[in-house]
Amino acid sequence: MTQPERVVRVLMVCLGNICRSPTAHAVFQNCIDTAGLGARVEVDSAGTADYHIGSSPDKRSIEMGAQHGYDLSQQRARQVQPEDFDTFDYLLAMDLQNLEDLRSQCPSAHARKLYLMMDFGTSAIKEVPDPYYGGDNGFEKVLKLVEDAADGLIAHISERNLR
Ligand code: 4NP
Repeated sequence: MTQPERVVRVLMVCLGNICRSPTAHAVFQNCIDTAGLGARVEVDSAGTADYHIGSSPDKRSIEMGAQHGYDLSQQRARQVQPEDFDTFDYLLAMDLQNLEDLRSQCPSAHARKLYLMMDFGTSAIKEVPDPYYGGDNGFEKVLKLVEDAADGLIAHISERNLR
């Protein structure tokens, strides 16, 4: 009998789950759909902090996404839960503080699942900067960085997990 195909699960993680990780979530969902991998790869997002649980993404992120063809409006913020380290195959931190916060909660058996999102990018930039307190160009920068890394990530997952 053929085995059911395994689903690869990706969790995008930032601090508040209202700016960077919702953007990464929407951009990567678009990559999944474009690659026709909706049955094989799933994406979700969460924050390390509890500040915005239940909130919609930041209006500025929703608008920047919409300008580039991504719909963030249906997402709602949640906090990273202990079971996420079991459920997900990849937990991708937007910055080094997010990565450190994940490491401090992650059972050692799952430590290999933790990455920086920008590990999959093509530039030397390693962090997606927090745009929350900055100007509008911070939101555009977030979008461009996660678009770059999302392309690398879908290629990595296809190569590593789906052959
Ligand atoms: P995010 O941005 O981590 O990209 O969602 C932030 C959102 C909210 C706050 C900080 C960063 N805050 O301090 O409320």
